[in-house]
Amino acid sequence: MNLKDCNNVEDFKKLAKKKLPSPIFHYIDGGSDDEVTLKRNTEAFNSCDLIPNVLADVSKVDLSTTVFGKKIDFPLFLAPTAMHRLYHHTGEAAAAKAAEKMGTMFSMSTMSTTSIEEIGNLTSCPKLFQLYIHKDKGLTDNLIERCKRSGFDGLCLTVDTVVAGNRERDHRTGFSTPPRLTLGSLLSFASHPQWSLNYLLREKFKLANIIHMTDKGSSIDKSVMDYINEQFDPSMNWNDAEYCIKKWGGPFALKGVMSVEDAKRSIDIGASAIMISNHGGRQLDGSRSPFDQLAEIADAVGDKIEIILDGGIRRGTHVLKALALGAKACSFGKAYLYALSAGGQKGIEMILENMKSEIRRDMILMGCKSVKELNKSKIRFR
Ligand code: LAC
Repeated sequence: MNLKDCNNVEDFKKLAKKKLPSPIFHYIDGGSDDEVTLKRNTEAFNSCDLIPNVLADVSKVDLSTTVFGKKIDFPLFLAPTAMHRLYHHTGEAAAAKAAEKMGTMFSMSTMSTTSIEEIGNLTSCPKLFQLYIHKDKGLTDNLIERCKRSGFDGLCLTVDTVVAGNRERDHRTGFSTPPRLTLGSLLSFASHPQWSLNYLLREKFKLANIIHMTDKGSSIDKSVMDYINEQFDPSMNWNDAEYCIKKWGGPFALKGVMSVEDAKRSIDIGASAIMISNHGGRQLDGSRSPFDQLAEIADAVGDKIEIILDGGIRRGTHVLKALALGAKACSFGKAYLYALSAGGQKGIEMILENMKSEIRRDMILMGCKSVKELNKSKIRFR
């Protein structure tokens, strides 16, 4: 199987599985506990159906939308995800350049392996930075100031990860960074020589944005779960979120809002957006899917705050359904990490191109000339 054989997210996933040592693949692919929420995130889109209108002259279709004050060519962007250097030696630069080429937004994680400054210099596409609040509070101010200097357009604060989800696949595979060699993982690294050579011989792994603040920046001795539990601040609260919003002074989202109550409170503290998300099913297993929560949140606050949805997006029709219920745009994480692992920047360009043409084709078949025409009249629950 090669890149040219990849026609959908599932194909990129198969190729990623082939290319990556198993601890790395399962870190991307996995969820928490029994992975019920992970599965439901995608399944939820099948609980309703689209209703097309015909004879609508769809010779010209406008897929563009605006997020964080920036226009993007189609309503899907790259969600913030950690440590791209583990999946491909070109790291976050590949994802940022692919987003730029495809006319969409790149999001960078606090736990990225390329620095804010490097990405700022490299691309002029819309850029979102994702904040984690560490126990070392100085880090928050430092990250926000650097994002301002490097021309980032928006910030989001992840609010669903004050403790790590129980990712049992990581326990089983012994996932750690740098990769730990156990008998099981050794076989897996040895049987993926290309990845292993690239990992050993090319740029060294580092958490590029925080390496100057914590000695954990060059390695996470145990697992990412241990890193989260040791470093993230479990006392994080609404005052901290409000502090970040004021300090940033621009477009700002809370990422991981799942209830109407929290959506309303996000407005009260001055957020311009919420990202309805359950962290890709990696945190609270048994929580509802973002898509299942979308309608009630959009009905309550959709006219007052920008709504972005992530979780389980695998097809263009999933994006259309989310927009019909009130989302401004969607983002995906796992899907483009499969593509990054499968083929670096080219892989991500391909998966974005694929999704963009699905969205375009689906819009035409729906009889919609613009994403603004997607509303509740276009969708029915079973
Ligand atoms: C994860 C964190 C680091 O989901 O965002 O692994």
